[in-house]
Amino acid sequence: MKPIKVLCLALLMPSLLSAQKKPAATLPQLGKSPVKDVVAAMTVEEKVKLIVGMGFNIEGIPPGMLPPIDPADNIAEKVVGAAGRSHAIPRLGIPTLTLSDGPAGVRINPIRHKDSTRTYYATAFPVGTLLASSWDTSLVRHVGIAFGHEVLEYGIDILLAPGMNIQRNPLGGRNFEYYSEDPLIAGNMAASFVKGIQSNGVGTSIKHFAANNAEFNRMNLNTFVSERAMREIYLKGFEIAVKKAQPWTVMSSYNLINGTYTSESKDLLTTVLRNEWGFKGYVMTDWFGGKNAVAQVNAGNDQLMPGTPMQTKAIIEGVKDGKITMAQLDKNVTNILNIMLKSPTFKGYKYSDKPDLKADAKVSRMAATEGMVLLKNESHALPLTSKTVALFGNTSYDLIAGGTGSGDVNKAYVISLNQGLVNSGYRLDPSLADNYKSYIAAEKAKRPKPKMMFLAPAPIAEMPLDENLLKEKAEKADVAVITIGRIAGEGGDRKEADDFTLTAAEQTMIADITKAFHGKEKNVVVVLNIGGVVETASWRDKPDAILLAWHPGLEGGNAIADVLSGKVNPSGKLTATFPMAYSDVPNSKTFPGKELPGGESANPLMGRPAEVTYDDGIYVGYRYFNTFDVKPAYEFGYGLSYTDFGYSKFKLSSASFNGKITATVLVTNKGKRAGKEVVQLYISAPAKMLNKPESELKGFAKTRLLKPGEAQLLTFNINSADLASFDTATETWIAESGDYKVKIGASSKDIKESGKFNLNKNINVLKVHKVLAPAAPITELTQ
Ligand code: BGC
Repeated sequence: MKPIKVLCLALLMPSLLSAQKKPAATLPQLGKSPVKDVVAAMTVEEKVKLIVGMGFNIEGIPPGMLPPIDPADNIAEKVVGAAGRSHAIPRLGIPTLTLSDGPAGVRINPIRHKDSTRTYYATAFPVGTLLASSWDTSLVRHVGIAFGHEVLEYGIDILLAPGMNIQRNPLGGRNFEYYSEDPLIAGNMAASFVKGIQSNGVGTSIKHFAANNAEFNRMNLNTFVSERAMREIYLKGFEIAVKKAQPWTVMSSYNLINGTYTSESKDLLTTVLRNEWGFKGYVMTDWFGGKNAVAQVNAGNDQLMPGTPMQTKAIIEGVKDGKITMAQLDKNVTNILNIMLKSPTFKGYKYSDKPDLKADAKVSRMAATEGMVLLKNESHALPLTSKTVALFGNTSYDLIAGGTGSGDVNKAYVISLNQGLVNSGYRLDPSLADNYKSYIAAEKAKRPKPKMMFLAPAPIAEMPLDENLLKEKAEKADVAVITIGRIAGEGGDRKEADDFTLTAAEQTMIADITKAFHGKEKNVVVVLNIGGVVETASWRDKPDAILLAWHPGLEGGNAIADVLSGKVNPSGKLTATFPMAYSDVPNSKTFPGKELPGGESANPLMGRPAEVTYDDGIYVGYRYFNTFDVKPAYEFGYGLSYTDFGYSKFKLSSASFNGKITATVLVTNKGKRAGKEVVQLYISAPAKMLNKPESELKGFAKTRLLKPGEAQLLTFNINSADLASFDTATETWIAESGDYKVKIGASSKDIKESGKFNLNKNINVLKVHKVLAPAAPITELTQ
């Protein structure tokens, strides 16, 4: 029987048979032979093919905006709208990897080849900032699990996410994609997200490594930053994510650090990332990032995305001239092949193109409610007790699910707040809804087309509301809800006027509605549908309640209604400071930097040469506000609940530090509704040798849903690395001797319990390499 079977198989698979006949059959094959044998069998051209990517075919970017791509690569896409691919080398069994954005959902074209009978929509999950505001790493992992399944089922190998740069300034155009102004939050959120996504057997790309904190001239911005600020603020989150979650890939950023493009920096990509942190995956450039392909290869930037013919040529010449050693090229190739071995494409996974979008929409809605932050709640305005709502503000009817650019998602729908409230059983005024809908449609038709579909559209001015109309609405409805919306995205930072601050029309809308409704003793609630921090101090006294809903994903309107109605008790807290005024932000005078004379013609995606000096050093966000006693509007870590929590039984395991200390605290729900509390642990460290911020976040935890009267004991472990600051003179993380204050807070300023312990002598926690140093010392803010 056996020979017949083999014969049948051979007849069915002629290619297999012919391969067996040829000498090629003796060639090593990826997965069957050791990777080193596959690499040894590759020609230089094949190696270069592998490290120079392809497949960039994103709609909305006019020709000429970006460098030309190889016409030979213009072959049918496997996943239409994915951001890029790697080249296959079939004779060695090397397939093509497919890479796709982005941080809030799979970003691919929903319609292929004009055939709308079959769609490829993806779930728009809440943006990174909202997820982080949940302070719940298990929630973020849960989202990652659902999201990663869509990655897998749409035939994608590596998701180009999470975005995890530090939100250094409120105007950062991509802040919505990022997690926090604090690296402990950014790193832990990213690690959980990566673990969730990668549990599906697909990869991630933590991005943009590193110090990519503005969109201003983003491909040419030279960032001058001290080694200490790099280590403590801008690298720390990446370090946590790499060590905790081993992402398959890291994406180097567009900017330069102290004169070197990150993608060309061996210090960053090899010394720090691989040698110090133990990164095992591969590094890819951001799209068209960096200038010198040879330097990129030598730096350990394994893959150049999406790849250009110029890069291929330069690398081949570099190898011929000896500027690139074969050993270096082989290293980069090996790093890519090792990851490829794990990929669904390599394993021949039969993806369905049919992820369970209904189930994922539920995850998106649930997650959105967990990260909304209640900023104000007076006169028992929330949860809403009455059912008749007058709903104002353009974005109530045209909700912003997420930001623009590669962080955007092609979703099948977005639930507006109007729809969400209706779905939750509220009575809304249909005539107001009609007015808004026709106003929005007319204004959208009038507005100029963005220069590129990729960029954020111009906002629509708030619909004017006359006094009589407001009087009538205040008479009929029980409560007014007003939504204020903001959108931003890659290619541009936000502006202070009319973006960070409210527009005159928005201020008038809030003032007039409040006057009319308070006149009838009715409450006013403001919902902030924003992706980044806005000014609140000038208007926050007017409404009775403010809910920060962020960009909540495609189920946004339902999720906001869940919180407004009290179906979900809000438990999110701020992961970025809301300042009183933009000028209070320590880097407001120098952000985003300045353009240098000359350079290429302006193009929002490429930009001119520019530079910025991080003169705020380590004093970013609350590290600045709390140290220099600048009062914020809402501080880092702030957020209210519909219930109250009590803190008690605080205990430190020891009064002196011997390698580890444990802090415990009991959190009790003292109110009348079930709720969750985010508990934060800050440490104030002795500052004998080094400047120290007033305090720094060193741990956080979220309780489970506590019923009224229920309590939960939370435990935090503190180790020597948590006590250490970076000493540039010795390139060492040092925990200084002295008294350490441990503070348990409901926010960075609302400290509920505290205690101290002593460290009797300095600990040199870790000595690292002298890397990424600025040529001249940077004049930084100090105390
Ligand atoms: C963005 C990346 C993105 C890439 C691919 C770049 O413009 O900066 O975040 O992953 O494009 O779309």
